[in-house]
Amino acid sequence: MEPKADIALIGLAVMGQNLILNMNDHGYTVVAYNRSTEKVDQFLANEAKGTKVLGARSIEEMVAQLKRPRRVMMLVKAGKPVDEFIEQLIPHLEPGDIIIDGGNSLFEDTNRRQKYVESKGLLYIGTGVSGGEEGARHGPSIMPGGSPAAWPHVKDILQAVSAKVEGGVPCCEWVGEMGAGHYVKMVHNGIEYGDMQLICEAYNIMKNGLGMSAQEMHEVFAEWNKGELDSYLIEISRDILAKKDDDGSPLVDKILDTAGQKGTGKWTVINSQDLGIPITLMAEAVYSRCVSALKDERVKASRKLKGPTPKLTGIAADAKRKQAFIDDIKSALYASKIVSYAQGYMLMGAAAKEYKWSLNYGGIALMWRGGCIIRSRFLGKIKEAYDKNPKLMNLMLDDYFRGEIKKAQKGWRNVVATAARRGIPAPAFSTALAFYDQYRNAVLPANLLQAQRDYFGAHTYERTDKPRGEFFHTNWTGKGGTTAAGTYNV
Ligand code: 6PG
Repeated sequence: MEPKADIALIGLAVMGQNLILNMNDHGYTVVAYNRSTEKVDQFLANEAKGTKVLGARSIEEMVAQLKRPRRVMMLVKAGKPVDEFIEQLIPHLEPGDIIIDGGNSLFEDTNRRQKYVESKGLLYIGTGVSGGEEGARHGPSIMPGGSPAAWPHVKDILQAVSAKVEGGVPCCEWVGEMGAGHYVKMVHNGIEYGDMQLICEAYNIMKNGLGMSAQEMHEVFAEWNKGELDSYLIEISRDILAKKDDDGSPLVDKILDTAGQKGTGKWTVINSQDLGIPITLMAEAVYSRCVSALKDERVKASRKLKGPTPKLTGIAADAKRKQAFIDDIKSALYASKIVSYAQGYMLMGAAAKEYKWSLNYGGIALMWRGGCIIRSRFLGKIKEAYDKNPKLMNLMLDDYFRGEIKKAQKGWRNVVATAARRGIPAPAFSTALAFYDQYRNAVLPANLLQAQRDYFGAHTYERTDKPRGEFFHTNWTGKGGTTAAGTYNV
């Protein structure tokens, strides 16, 4: 029998099922496979009933149904399952066939897997897929990287099923070689963590500082979603705040305040440390999840560690002042968000250099513009900034964003200062402001730091009155010698 399937998809969890149905809607014949094969039968009998979707009960049967070059996409848990499926697939595939990993794999694993798979004559793609269940079904953002020779064979299908923005432009473009696609997805997730934390801080200040109800905050988010903050995450926060539990009270108030995480935010921060790039906001977002998880300790500490009362009684009681403070919170969120994206782009810039990728920064903003979790109007502005100047040194230096920060600055500072005075934690708002102030300062106190290093360890320093690259050592106490330690930086 002539093979008739265009692509195979392994992994029938909800993302996999939805992506298959999406591919089917676009006219592709998909063969579905899952490790526990009952899932295949269930899927064919239910969600995929009446579609062209085919099923397979073994890898062999799956491969036999595929047209050449064979395209096999995995949507399985990151880590060991990906390696296991690659091992199972290799004996059944032929040179030129393509394995695609659509999970949240660590980019370094993708680097390793691509080399391995290519050594067997096959091609490999590691692609970020963002947008949750809904995105997978109706158009996710897709960020593919890997073997360049594979791209022409998967471009049509991946672009067809991806989200589309203005004028039908697909939110899917080739990112680069090796793990570049998974890297960009990882940064997307780091930014996602940052955006979520910023929204939570705005919520917390409104709730505990201004004493606002879930319904009132729902209205604020609804309003914010009409302007420059218009985004998926603000939109779902708006809806979450309106959701009632069975007893009619806001459901959000009954949800335990301990955050989970699957690791992609953490990977972003670890990688930033390797590359020496300060993504301070994403780091605070990851650590805030860690602090939230220390629930029992926090409950005990809350009885012992004293601080000011959070309630801003005077402001909350005066409608005009209250509205002005809500506007300031919006400014804090917006300016911090600009800093966070600027940091994310700094990280991608450093990664491109280190891993020799030529990343298209405007193209990445476009890919994130629709379909994914961080999709927003704001990303359209980032695309414009990089279209205007592809070599932009920092997003905060773009005229538009510079102007936006300028406008938001007063409110942002007010919120950070007020939160600090009232003991309301706002780590992401604060770190963003601290970074902004560090970045815009030509001189930082690291002169003293270098003196300290030289004092206790003869680590040497450079001088402001001498050319860069010349290193000096001082015998600070008169007791040390003149021998300096070797100068190197990690
Ligand atoms: C997406 C999301 C997704 C992410 C989950 C869980 O782009 O669709 O980023 O890929 O993995 O939302 O993330 P955490 O469990 O780490 O919050």
